[in-house]
Amino acid sequence: MKKNLIVGQSGGPTAVINGSLYGVVTEAMRHTEEIGEIYGMINGIEGFLNGHMMDMRSLIETNELALLRTTPGSYLGSCRYKLPEDLNDPVYPLLFNKFTSHGIGYFFYIGGNDSMDTVSKLSRYAKKINSDIRFIGVPKTIDNDIFGTDVTFGFHTAVDIATDALDRLHTTANSHSRILLCEIMGNKAGWLTLSAGIAGGADIILIPEIPYDIDKVCKSVQKRSESGKNFSIVAVAEGCFDKEEAKMKKKERTRLRQEAGITTATNRIAAQIQQKTGLEARVCVPGHMLRGGSPSAYDRVLATQFGVYAAELIREEHYGMSVAKVGGTITANKLDDIAGKTKFVSPDDQLVQTARNLGISFGD
Ligand code: F6P
Repeated sequence: MKKNLIVGQSGGPTAVINGSLYGVVTEAMRHTEEIGEIYGMINGIEGFLNGHMMDMRSLIETNELALLRTTPGSYLGSCRYKLPEDLNDPVYPLLFNKFTSHGIGYFFYIGGNDSMDTVSKLSRYAKKINSDIRFIGVPKTIDNDIFGTDVTFGFHTAVDIATDALDRLHTTANSHSRILLCEIMGNKAGWLTLSAGIAGGADIILIPEIPYDIDKVCKSVQKRSESGKNFSIVAVAEGCFDKEEAKMKKKERTRLRQEAGITTATNRIAAQIQQKTGLEARVCVPGHMLRGGSPSAYDRVLATQFGVYAAELIREEHYGMSVAKVGGTITANKLDDIAGKTKFVSPDDQLVQTARNLGISFGD
């Protein structure tokens, strides 16, 4: 018997998140025996709870579907809505009653770690009540910190944007003999800062996984200055912290920074460099620009591959799967194996070693 499919997007958008939506919908339309209606959640699971949905087949009539491949931002809107850990919470029967009333048999969610956690909880609840609804996660994040996959779509385009920012900072750094610090997104993991730092010619890369010693950061800057280099470029992950803060819990770190009136680690590092070395320092924060603009060709292909593969998974008798790219192959992980886990940069990672071999300092 045909069942209906629903797809939603959540978390921070990427330049190419709609590419995966395009893949899911176009592949779903091929499964004419299994799939009836194809619905889109407006603003993720939160919007679905409020009854906000749309018929995705309407995009065919208006020829808009193909445009999704190159339209940045979440076409279906987004949300940051975490389902409760307790599967006895009344929100679960409320959601499953809505699924039943719309004849949903397949649920696809495109998002980051929190979204994969959402799909994991829904699929565990489905097992608990013997529901036959299948739940598929399509991981996306510019942070590339989803466990179990080599890469997520959006990351590659964000590396391009951050690299372009670092390239452009060299102009002023050189002309004004300054230390230019660029704060790059990545609250938990430093993949984006590490990759763009290498590509963009940073002299110092600071990431959350390698707590820094500000005196060693200043020493690197001074060493460059003494060797005749009149500027330095520092790529700073927004979530990085120093060795003292590494001994604290995140809440403590945040509280102390707020009390000191520090908005981001980068502003404090710039002030410390200026004060300790006497060299002028300036901060640039590309921020949410890293999630916008035209997606790279690599990301367009990857997002579409993820979306198509996700829709193919409905043939499998699987509960709770999440699409992945491992060793060059598009595959899938059990959500229970990856949900709630973050893929951190190991200090022994080959990319870290490459940077060190290039003479890049991690402030450690
Ligand atoms: O998770 C992706 C991300 O862009 C992080 O890199 C960043 O810290 C966070 O989202 C920002 O979230 P928001 O868009 O809610 O400010």
